[in-house]
Amino acid sequence: MSRGLAIACEIYYNIIDIKITKAVTNVEIQVCIGSGCHLKGAHYVIKRLKELVADNGTAKPVRLTASFCQESCTEGVVVRINGVVVKNVSIGNIDTIFREAVARR
Ligand code: FES
Repeated sequence: MSRGLAIACEIYYNIIDIKITKAVTNVEIQVCIGSGCHLKGAHYVIKRLKELVADNGTAKPVRLTASFCQESCTEGVVVRINGVVVKNVSIGNIDTIFREAVARR
């Protein structure tokens, strides 16, 4: 991602490179903010993830970042957790997905 694009994303979504602790990251969550996923509510997923990460406290370090199109627009919102693609993420299932991801690490 170019620096300009990263700054634009940071301003709009305010999520780039959020780190709860300075320890080694155990869980890396990357939310697609391409137009398809944006239209399907990526911003709501991000908002909820930010709350979940904050609530996670010191349990396990989580890094939340954004990505552009993951080429699965019809199955958005697309989230990549430690490199594994999770499709059809929504505000209705993000809590479960997050807790399972953190529990696995
Ligand atoms: S916009 Fe998210 S997969 Fe294409």
